[in-house]
Amino acid sequence: MTSLEGRVAIITGAGRGIGREHALFFANEGAKVVVNDLGGANDGEGSDQTPAEEVAAEIRAQGGEAIANADNVADWEGAQHLVNAAIEAFGDLDIVVNNAGILRDRVIVNMTEAEWDAVIAVHLKGHFAPTRWAAAYWREEHKAGRGKRRNLVHTSSTSGLFSNPGQANYGAAKSGIATFSQIAAKELSRYDVVSNCIAPGARTRLTLATPGLEEIMTPRDGAFDEWDPANISPLVAYLSTVGCQFTGETFFAQGGVVKRVKSWEMADTVEQPAKWTVDGLAAALAPIADLA
Ligand SMILES: NC(=O)c1ccc[n+]([C@@H]2O[C@H](COP(=O)([O-])OP(=O)(O)OC[C@H]3O[C@@H](n4cnc5c(N)ncnc54)[C@H](O)[C@@H]3O)[C@@H](O)[C@H]2O)c1
Repeated sequence: MTSLEGRVAIITGAGRGIGREHALFFANEGAKVVVNDLGGANDGEGSDQTPAEEVAAEIRAQGGEAIANADNVADWEGAQHLVNAAIEAFGDLDIVVNNAGILRDRVIVNMTEAEWDAVIAVHLKGHFAPTRWAAAYWREEHKAGRGKRRNLVHTSSTSGLFSNPGQANYGAAKSGIATFSQIAAKELSRYDVVSNCIAPGARTRLTLATPGLEEIMTPRDGAFDEWDPANISPLVAYLSTVGCQFTGETFFAQGGVVKRVKSWEMADTVEQPAKWTVDGLAAALAPIADLA
């Protein structure tokens, strides 16, 4: 039996790049796949349902089960429609892989309101909205006595977790997604839902648009292609299995490397049993100061 046999999965942004690889891999592992993709440009402009349709057709041609869906994940009704489309087509929903994304890189002093809003919408709201509608369905199923293991996998980025300059909009959204995943893990455990997050590294149109990266990511003759986006999908499939042994975690994945990312943690402490003065704090914090 394959690892995702008979399970129903929505994969957002699955018309291209990493999401496309997830869709093909999931189908191979026995999942019934909803291939979602709005089909816009790198910066989110425009739409085209062809990429989603092509991936769904490719899966069906290989004997798998898939439908295409072109809803915008950042649109409230669109996300609801996406979740309903899975349930109508396949009778249930077990897995949501939130992966859709865009980039509008700019340093903070030059960033426009539109650049900020578009990136926050597609990533942060685009993770929340499908999760929200799936969670509501899972709660109803659980209450009706049809509860079972369901899985959420979200897509963060080292650009956010480790604060990459020039990507304040993207980084803030990606960091937010990792925390969103942890909160989903805590809130939805009562419905047997596990929620985990990945921070991938792969050669896609998003990373190829970043100056300097294309050369680093070009495959070398005969060597393992460590930037192949297909390398990310086994981890996402594992996190989507009934037997997944994690929740609330974030994993970095690139090539053959999978690393657990540590969450924010409390560190150096100063403390007194009274309210601080500014001078008192300055003196107490001096031994651990960064800019001394
Ligand atoms: N490639 C990397 O190294 C890397 C690194 C860190 C994080 N990521 C993240 O991985 C995810 C996949 O990115 P990728 O590199 O495969 O890029 P990609 O551009 O190849 O794929 C992203 C897909 O999302 C779709 N999409 C965009 N906005 C959408 C919306 N509103 N609704 C539905 N679909 C939408 C696009 O049409 C596109 O097909 C993104 O969340 C990205 O931020 C990628």
